Parts: sequence; C-alpha cells; structure tokens
Amino acid sequence: MGYQDVYAGWQADPEAYWMAEAKRIDWHTPPSRAQFDRGDGISDWFSDGMLNGCWNAVDRHVEAGRGAQTAIIHDSPLTGTKRWISYAELRNRVATLAGALRAKGVGKGDRVIIYMPMVPEAVEAMLACARLGAIHSVVFGGFAANELAVRIDDAKPRAILAASCGIEPGRVVHYKPLLDGAIAQATHKPEFCVILQREQEVAQLTPGRDVDWHGFQYGATPADCVPVEGDHPAYILYTSGTTGAPKGVVRPTAGHLVALNWTMKAIYGVDPGEVFWAASDVGWVVGHSYICYAPLVHGNTTIVFEGKPVGTPDAGTFWRVIAEHGVASFFTAPTAFRAVKREDPKGEHIARHDLSRLRAIYLAGERADPDTIEWTQEKTGKPVYDHWWQTETGWPIVGNPVGIEALPVKIGSPTVAMPGYDVRILDEQGNEKPAGELGAIAVRLPLPPGTLPTLWNAGERFRKAYLSRFPGYYETGDAGMKDADGYLWIMARTDDVINVAGHRLSTGGMEEVLAAHPDVAECAVVGVRDDLKGQLPMGFVCLTKGVNRPHEEVEKECVALVRDHIGPVAAFKLCKVVDRLPKTRSGKILRRTMAAIADGEDFKLPATIDDPAILDEIRGSIAALGYPRT
Ligand code: COA
Ligand code: AMP
Repeated sequence: MGYQDVYAGWQADPEAYWMAEAKRIDWHTPPSRAQFDRGDGISDWFSDGMLNGCWNAVDRHVEAGRGAQTAIIHDSPLTGTKRWISYAELRNRVATLAGALRAKGVGKGDRVIIYMPMVPEAVEAMLACARLGAIHSVVFGGFAANELAVRIDDAKPRAILAASCGIEPGRVVHYKPLLDGAIAQATHKPEFCVILQREQEVAQLTPGRDVDWHGFQYGATPADCVPVEGDHPAYILYTSGTTGAPKGVVRPTAGHLVALNWTMKAIYGVDPGEVFWAASDVGWVVGHSYICYAPLVHGNTTIVFEGKPVGTPDAGTFWRVIAEHGVASFFTAPTAFRAVKREDPKGEHIARHDLSRLRAIYLAGERADPDTIEWTQEKTGKPVYDHWWQTETGWPIVGNPVGIEALPVKIGSPTVAMPGYDVRILDEQGNEKPAGELGAIAVRLPLPPGTLPTLWNAGERFRKAYLSRFPGYYETGDAGMKDADGYLWIMARTDDVINVAGHRLSTGGMEEVLAAHPDVAECAVVGVRDDLKGQLPMGFVCLTKGVNRPHEEVEKECVALVRDHIGPVAAFKLCKVVDRLPKTRSGKILRRTMAAIADGEDFKLPATIDDPAILDEIRGSIAALGYPRT
C-alpha cells in the first residue's frame, strides 16, 4: 500500500487504524477501543487499557530474548568516554533506580523533575519514573535557575534527579548551584534530590535533602513495572508560549507509545535492532521522543551524544559517530548542519568516514533552508527529509513516510500530513484557503494518539491557546500553505515564539525579564534572521524618565538579566537603549516592522503608525548592532 492508501485508510476508519497499531505494543489489559471522546473536540486514546511505558521500552525486549542487544550507546566527545548498555543491563539499572525511588515513597502520579546533561542516567531516570507510573518532567540544562524554579512550582515534584554538572565546550556548567538556587526561589520544596556526581565536578550535597545517586540505590529492591491507564500522563514537558509562563505539555502514556512505535518504521524507515540517532538533548521533545522512547519502544539502539556538531573536536564528529556506531537513520536540527557547513564547506570530513550504513537524514525543529538541505544531500549522497512537528504533538505532523512510500522531495517542504493529522490552512475567519495560499496552519480535531490532551494545571489556558481561535481545530501557531499536491510549506510563527538554534523561545518571556530592570520603562524583543541559528533575539529598551546612565551599562545589564533569568540558551546578546518604540496610534508596538528593518526586508509602512520618524531612529539603533547583515 502506498501513502495515499494508508492515509485514506486512516481517514475512513481511525478507530480500526489505531487499534491495529495498538497491537504492536504490549498491554497489561488491552483497551476495548481506541478513541474516547472527551466532549470538547479532544479525544483521549486507549483510556481503558492498562500498560507500562518502561515495560514497552525495555523489559519486553529482554523477555523476547534480545537482552544482549545494545540499547544505549553513550558517546561523549566532551569527556572522551564511550559506554554501551545492553537492554538487559538497562532493565536492571532502571529497575534498581525505580526500586530506590519507590522506597522513598515515589509512586504513580507523583512528579519527578530531571535536570541532567546528556548522560545515559538521564534516560534511565525517565524510564525509572515510567516504571513506577511517576510523571517525569525533564528541564533542559541550558535554562537558568529561575526557569527551573517556575517548573518546580508548577509540577510540584516529590523528588528531583540531577547531576553535579553539565559540560559545554570550554566550561563546566555547575548544576548544583543552579538547582539550589531554584529550590530556594521556589515555593514548593521537593522532599529529596538524587545527585549524580560526575568526575568533572563533585558537588557539595545538602544534608537532609540530597543523596548520592549510587548510595541511594545501594541495596534497593528492584521494582516491577506498574500498569497505568492508557491516558495516564507519562510526562510533562514545558515549552515556550507567548508569555514567560511556560506551558506544561502533558503526554499521555499509551497514545505516545503507539504513535512513536509507528513512526520508527513509517517515517524513519528503521527495523528493530538497527541504530538510530537523534542528535538533540533530552531536555527537548526531540530528545523525549527520539532519544528515549521511540527507538527503545521499537527495539532500536539509541545514541546519547554529549557533544556539539562542531568543536568537539571538529566538524567531523557527526560523521565519526555515524560511521563508528553504524547509524542507519540520523535526525538533527538544520542549525547543526549550518554549523558543520560553515566549518567544513567542502565536506572534507565526510570523505574520511564510512557512511555506508546510513540510509537517510532527517531535519526538524526549525525551518530547513534549501541551502542547508542541498549541501547535506550533495555532500553525503543521502536523502535528506525535512519534517514538521511540535512539542505539543510529540511526533511528526507532516513528513515523508519513507517506510510506506518514499514520496518525491520538494526542497523547502516537509512533505505531507501523516495519518492521524488532517491539516488545513485557514483564513482569519476560519475558512479554508485554496491550495497555494498562505494562512494559519490548523489540524482538524480530534488530534491523534500521543498528542497533548491538556496543559498541566492549565486546562483553560490549553483551550484558549489552542482550541478557541478556530472552533473544531487545533491551532498550531505556524503559518504556511498547502500546494496542489498536498505538500505543506511552513513559513512563519503567528505568535511571539522564536526559534534560536532549534530551541523554541518566547520573546514575550524575554520582555517580561527586561521590564523588571529598575531603569527600564518599556521594551520590545523581536526575532531577527541569523545565518547560523536561524533567528536571534534583539531587544530594545526605553529608560525610565530621569534615568541618566550610560546606555552601554544598561544594555550590558539587560543582557546579563536575560542570561540569569532564562539562561544562556536564549542567546540574548543584542540589546539597545532607544528613546521611543515605534507604535500604532492605539499603542501597539510595531515588532514586525522592527524585525523587517533588522532583516533588511522591504515592508509596508503601517497606516496606523503614530510617528513614522521613529523608524529612522530605530533603523539607526539596529545599524549600531550591525544589522541588517550584508
Ligand atoms: N547546558 C548549559 N548551557 C548550555 C546547554 C546546556 N545543555 N546547551 C547550550 N548551552 C549554552 C551554550 O554553552 C551557549 O552559551 P554561551 O552563550 O556561553 O556560549 C548558549 O547556551 C547557546 O548555546 P547553543 O544554542 O548550543 O549555541 P552555540 O553557539 O554554543 O552552538 C550550534 C551553536 C549550532 C552548534 C548549536 O546551537 C547546536 O548544536 N545546535 C543543535 C540544535 C539542537 O540540537 N536543537 C535541539 C532541537 S532538535
Ligand atoms: P518545538 O515545540 O520546540 O519542537 O518547536 C516547534 C516549532 O518549531 C514549530 O511550531 C515550528 O514553528 C518550528 N518547526 C519545527 N519543525 C519545523 C520544520 N520542519 N519547518 C519549519 N518549522 C519547524
């Protein structure tokens, strides 16, 4: 069957389609049906079935006689180490960690925050939670203490599992002070913290609260897998919205496992036993889905890579890892290839490695620019597939289903809607736009298994953010079009979310931080184009009347403030004090106009602009920051 048949088969009978897919994972009690209509357009999936995520990712492969297969390869050019963990070892390690957590009272429904770098223990921590039915929430290491504190207060974890440090090129990231700072700031206090002491830094443990990772597990009775309901939350993953308060995306257990398992063959074209590598971080959705759960559920070997595309030690690292470990399918963000291409434009490193076992390369997380796709395709000789999805969905909305049928690639398009997603392009009024016309990208409800059923502690925000603008649809926040062949073209965000090196960030959140500076009266942050990272934030601040300080001083403080409050990952380094911000007569800041000036794009002067002369001042400030780039 080709893609059209499979898609039509799903459309004709989604219930039968997903029940058939559900048979490919293990159930304690099989569900009586797939879809449970919740009444608000959203469906829960497989709710009356009982199963366990860790069983499906780990134990079942051991039971099936594949215990000796490598489950996780840790390859860390940053520490110069490599480790191989078999499925049998993984089962034992995870069961012991889960047993130790259970002995401290962690059980089904309890939240556990994981704040760890790219070490296998991070994946083991996720699986140990899944084993107990505890809900994990992984926080990316590049976030500052304040962001961690916000997540602690929202998730109210019983425990936090952390490492003593992370390692970035040229510096050790001291996790422990960040963790202590976050706990001090948060109103909610975890009962205990388990700290993985790394060789690069031994952290001072807080007596009565912190325990050492290994000591904590010593003598623990291994825990069995606890069956949970199909719609039990497997995890909460916070992502950026339009304000500084992150959205806690809830991932339901069963739908997640069923859908991810489907994607491994249908989209990534791999069979059980093969090596799959997603070069991302466990702190992002790509890491949750394609470093941890999907490859393991499908019985693949996954790679936990602690390094960067360049500088660890060079632009050949990706190719070295692919060749050395026999990667069959490789997934990363376009920014990573932009970094590689910049350092090795001729692709000389590629020739030094045997990429014969690699079949395809996948890109997502941000717009894949045609230059990058073409360069990667030409230099590696492998097909490069762009695909489009979000933290909210947990798996691709639009992609090229190579395991079903490899569709012709149109460079710049992530290809077509996957079964489960009925993607439409809508105008302001919610009417469907004809092929080739730009509009808001929406998905007809219900969303498929594995997608978010709600936001943690924020059901109303969920409805407002995603379901209210276009009744009967999920609003993706992206704009784009569909062509006559049904290919999607993703053009831009419709909100204040920007994408910096594949990391999703809120300009609204940065504005909240800048506005808290005592000398700042007003501010605006916009996303400007960047050759390497796709976008970078650029901030403009107006000083409070009477403040008479050197502008450079305030600008430096603003940069430091965003780094301290959001984290280095925000990459907020462009900031300018300005006299006034351009606004409409009704007082709306003209952020898009400022971004267009910085990008060197033509723009139409908004008819409602209050004082066009301000744009010349802004142009001068942008030029002082070195923009537009030539
Ligand atoms: N812990 C602590 N700090 C972190 C971090 C982590 N896990 N990850 C990043 N940072 C810091 C970096 O050290 C850097 O700090 P600096 O301002 O002191 O230099 C800052 O956050 C920005 O990091 P990054 O986005 O990684 O940019 P970079 O300039 O260091 O590297 C790339 C550029 C393109 C090589 C890098 O962005 C990259 O590898 N991107 C891949 C994207 C990706 O995997 N995205 C995931 C979604 S699929
Ligand atoms: P995240 O939730 O962090 O995965 O970010 C999701 C957002 O990243 C999407 O809503 C898009 O704006 C953007 N994005 C992800 N993949 C792509 C892609 N292939 N092409 C264009 N934009 C993408």
